[in-house]
Amino acid sequence: MPLDLPPDVPIDPATDADAQSHLSRRRLLQMLGTAGGAAVGAPMLAPLLGDGSLPVTNEAAAMAQATPSAAAAAAGSALPPNIPPWMLQWGPLASPYGERSPYEQNVVRIPIPTEPVDSWAPLQDFFGTITPNSLFYERTHAGVPQIDPAQHRLLVHGAVEQPTLFTMDDLKRFPAVSVIHFLECSGNSGSQWKEATLQPTAQKAHGLVSCTEWTGVPVRTILREVGWQPGGSWLLFEGADAAAMTRSVPTEKAMQDGLLVYGQNGEALRPSQGYPLRLILPGWEGNMNIKWLRRIEVGAVPWETREETSKYTDLLPDGIARQFTFVMEAKSVITFPSGGQTIAGAGFWEIRGYAWSGRGRITGVDVSSDGGKTWSTATLQEPVLPISLTRFRFPWQWDGQPALLQSRAIDETGYVQPTIAELVAARGVNSGYHMNAITTWAVAESGEVTNAYR
Ligand code: CO
Repeated sequence: MPLDLPPDVPIDPATDADAQSHLSRRRLLQMLGTAGGAAVGAPMLAPLLGDGSLPVTNEAAAMAQATPSAAAAAAGSALPPNIPPWMLQWGPLASPYGERSPYEQNVVRIPIPTEPVDSWAPLQDFFGTITPNSLFYERTHAGVPQIDPAQHRLLVHGAVEQPTLFTMDDLKRFPAVSVIHFLECSGNSGSQWKEATLQPTAQKAHGLVSCTEWTGVPVRTILREVGWQPGGSWLLFEGADAAAMTRSVPTEKAMQDGLLVYGQNGEALRPSQGYPLRLILPGWEGNMNIKWLRRIEVGAVPWETREETSKYTDLLPDGIARQFTFVMEAKSVITFPSGGQTIAGAGFWEIRGYAWSGRGRITGVDVSSDGGKTWSTATLQEPVLPISLTRFRFPWQWDGQPALLQSRAIDETGYVQPTIAELVAARGVNSGYHMNAITTWAVAESGEVTNAYR
């Protein structure tokens, strides 16, 4: 038993009844500065209100008796130098699992109304580049299985020397790596193909993308462990959901940077992200990153599963379907100002957005306010990581006249994000997948922003 713990920390929760509540009596006494057995309860606020350690007035003490909002109104203002009600009493104490401010509850995913197997992430509300686990976009093919990790196994078999059944504990014993990568549904932005189906906001038009720090064990580590045999150039990955989501993956990609993931932004994967184990194939379309992973089979040819033949292929105008279109190409979207928002007036505004590419780093983002006639270079916000959401920003002086805002991404391969016209000319409109064209937000004189098909 460690001997250097502070005395207020319960040594053994199993034998310390106080640990069963959020606040131990001993801890409370210590915080109140009355350690030694004084009664706890009614006198709790008295030392804070009356001992002169805070600049508390009689009016302020009276305010504490009122509701916080009424108190703020009585004081005229909760702003400095007045004393707001929340400075007059203790707030809630430490808790086992965090919650956000009640004032932020409007920032939520939106389940797709027709069939809520997907939910869009609120791109326009995010800061930085890491998506909070609670707001990571969702896509399932048969809902979210509730898996007991103690009953979960990963079977690796086929063309290997030693077929093996791994427990989660087994997998966690291998050296782990952590990487930051975006994940995007290949159907993301699919509504942008046709003017009639345009969605009004950045969230609804483009919200099937998110970015996370993933932690797990490289696929190559496990394949070497089981004695992968040369010639086994394809792998089958199978999920433990009711869809048995199954995809064939070239071994070369899986050996290069494929990851068997159990950690997401520092905690266990969320169930809708594949708890307890999923595949991550950096930069490749979301559905291949098999969740609830239960089986890897090593073979010589692709399995031609449902999800790589009738689904997740791209039907071209001539009736031929593109198959095995794995990579998510470079893309960007302005998140401010974006559809559904209103600019408060002419003057300086910072245009902000995200850019990303499944082929590597974003090397540049251009911004236009005249529908693509002229372009300016945006600033990329560090860190600019490969295959990750990248922030861009551009200082914009709005003259109050109608404007057409666009962004276009360039990645380290030199690929330039196309216009809708260019993409439709190349692919037609039969397929809903791999829509990575430039988005146009139309700004009206009123400041209202809408999605424009251009
Ligand atoms: Co594809």
